[in-house]
Amino acid sequence: MSAPNSSFDPVEVADLSPQAVAAAVTAALTAIAGASDLAELKDVRLTHGGDHSTLALANREIGALPPHAKADAGKRVGEARAQVRQALQARQIELEADRDARVLVEEAVDVTLPYDRRVAGARHPLTTLHERIADVFVAMGWEIAEGPEVEAEWLNFDALNIGPDHPARTMQDTFFIGSEDSGVVLRTHTSPVQIRSLLDRPLPVYVICPGRVYRTDEFDATHLPVFHQVEGLVVDEGITVGDLKGTLDHFAREMFGPETKTRWRPSYFPFTEPSLEFDIWFEAAKGGPRWIEWGGCGIVNPRVLAAAGVDSDRYSGFAFGIGIDRTLMFANDVTDMRDMAEGDVRFTRLFGAEF
Ligand code: DAH
Repeated sequence: MSAPNSSFDPVEVADLSPQAVAAAVTAALTAIAGASDLAELKDVRLTHGGDHSTLALANREIGALPPHAKADAGKRVGEARAQVRQALQARQIELEADRDARVLVEEAVDVTLPYDRRVAGARHPLTTLHERIADVFVAMGWEIAEGPEVEAEWLNFDALNIGPDHPARTMQDTFFIGSEDSGVVLRTHTSPVQIRSLLDRPLPVYVICPGRVYRTDEFDATHLPVFHQVEGLVVDEGITVGDLKGTLDHFAREMFGPETKTRWRPSYFPFTEPSLEFDIWFEAAKGGPRWIEWGGCGIVNPRVLAAAGVDSDRYSGFAFGIGIDRTLMFANDVTDMRDMAEGDVRFTRLFGAEF
């Protein structure tokens, strides 16, 4: 910068000439128009609008002019700088708008795309099967009864006419809570709910009880230590084997189709007399049609009614029990029981994603 002087040398202040100022403005406007994004514009601002730009330097030279020339040059340079500032500002606004529009396109989210490729879980087929079973009976006006999985030994065995010497009571089959003489077991079947229902409810009783049961079995392809049964119990006046058969025939047809045939075989259970086992004729996808053992049933033993305080001269009843896991297996060609217990979604999904 030149020092203030009285001997004004026009060469030193050539930057202040109208041509020089106009050229600086033209250079600035060209650069501004050529800036294609905000980063480039920032550089242009430094070069043409910053402290070291031609016009800023020219501005500083004004001080070196003689008083009569100051006003003229000051106006010229001031207008030039204002023009560049405005051009910078206008371009800044344009480029910001460009950027915003581009960001909207580039970062747009297509809400119609699949949002999540993780496999959704599905209800376990044992759950859906047990609900289907419950629906058949609820539709006939029956109730769903529940009982605890940790059960009194008396309800699990004695009240069901399973005496102290019955093989099912030994350590071999039964999980005892604590020691073998604790009197508390993990229920080995859903049948204790028969007694609970009779103790809890007014007669007549029409209930089913789906639930989890426990036995000291291995965990392998054909055994599970935890599995599922559904128990049925009717106690009313005048109940006969005809009611039992009619009910289970209906049940079988609701589950497996209207043509389903049933077969009855004599059997033995301590809590029913007479006792039967029933089979269904099932057209399995693999292995073709065959008789499948489906469950046990019978006329409720009067001793069971007596244990629950029911007058067996006036009331009679029938009961049945089926394995839910077994039903799922033969109806769906499940060959390894562990598949039903392990909770692998690849198994569950085969049954359709019901939620
Ligand atoms: N509780 C029997 C079991 O665990 C199944 C059963 C058979 C239940 C006959 C019944 C019945 O109610 O009448 O194998």
